[in-house]
Amino acid sequence: MAAAISLPRLKGHIEALSTFGRNPDGRGITRSCWSPAHEEARAWLLGKMKAAGLETRVDPAGNTFGMLPGEGAAVLTGSHIDTVPEGGPLDGALGVLAGLECLQTIKEANLPARRPLAVVAWSDEEGRYGGLFGSRAFTGKLDVAQIPTLRSVDGELLVDAMARAGYDASRAAEARCDPRTLNAYIELHIEQGPHLDAARIPIGLVEGIVGIRRNRLTFIGEADHAGTTPMASRKDAFLAACEYALKAREHIVRKGSGRSVTNFGRIELHPGVSNIVPARALLLQEMRELDARILARLDRECVTLARGVARRRGLRVIVETLSRTEPARCAPRVMGAVQAACETLRLKWKQMPSGAGHDAQNLAGVTEAGMLFIPSRGGRSHRPDEMSDWRAIGRGTNALLHTLLRLAG
Ligand code: HGY
Ligand code: MN
Ligand code: MN
Repeated sequence: MAAAISLPRLKGHIEALSTFGRNPDGRGITRSCWSPAHEEARAWLLGKMKAAGLETRVDPAGNTFGMLPGEGAAVLTGSHIDTVPEGGPLDGALGVLAGLECLQTIKEANLPARRPLAVVAWSDEEGRYGGLFGSRAFTGKLDVAQIPTLRSVDGELLVDAMARAGYDASRAAEARCDPRTLNAYIELHIEQGPHLDAARIPIGLVEGIVGIRRNRLTFIGEADHAGTTPMASRKDAFLAACEYALKAREHIVRKGSGRSVTNFGRIELHPGVSNIVPARALLLQEMRELDARILARLDRECVTLARGVARRRGLRVIVETLSRTEPARCAPRVMGAVQAACETLRLKWKQMPSGAGHDAQNLAGVTEAGMLFIPSRGGRSHRPDEMSDWRAIGRGTNALLHTLLRLAG
């Protein structure tokens, strides 16, 4: 009988973690990094790591580690415990708690694992203050000069949020790892899309993770009286932003790879009242694509498109890059370990790309990294009803366990 995790214990941990930052009236979970709810969740996680007999550590970038000793370079697993606003109980939490469950099972059953093993919860994966903060710091990709200016969309400075949680943001880069101490990284995550659920396949073997470009476009027109200004002479920043968004979406669908996607998640109008023609429109845009060259081309083409729309409407536009995460290919050795684990457990798997960004794409820059997915019910995620079947969670965690045992030798 192959070694197996305790699904009841894992279920209890997932349900307990989901109480931190739970919103009233079924509006999901809001547990932004560095928030009081997140820091309570971190303290809870550290307690569970200690109870599992792991050595614990929190680094200067707020990455939370639980470790089992061993010889040589370590095998890392993990994900994140921060959530999007009104998010679900599994995005990130599954990878951290499944990793904890695996290490606890390995220790309790004294399973053979030569290398050191660690489970980590990376800081601010959801990018409230700038994408994948904790794993950027750990992998040496943090732009330190940017730290004092990083802020959330509602204007809160990262420096203030970290200070409130007891961290000094100026020291975050000290979290940088020595790549020689790492042997591999493997992350279990929900697919957050419809493919595995529709195909009724239990495991997704991730071959690569999309790159993400996040831009802020500011269309600058002129405030005017909403009642007296002739329609033909208005310099309406909102309408320019709308025309751009529709044209950019068309462009990315037609001129991208066929997998390229874009999203406009937020718009702010100034002065922002009903009886003034909008003088300024601040639009947040994301573009995602597995091929770095196509992503860079689409980014350039969209800037040209925005300038054309502004010029034709007699406005100006400023395009700022908020964050750039390069796409990453998963390591064949780690993918092979996931495949072998699925064969041990007689689990069907399907090779697929990740349309979501993950910390694993930063880890791929310093060690051999990979991911495995379980199906999301109806493909739903980043919403309160994000969920997977408990049997699917058990299968994915057992596949992670056997992958870790292979990688840890
Ligand atoms: O946005 C993403 O792809 C991830 O959920 N942070
Ligand atoms: Mn995630
Ligand atoms: Mn997410």
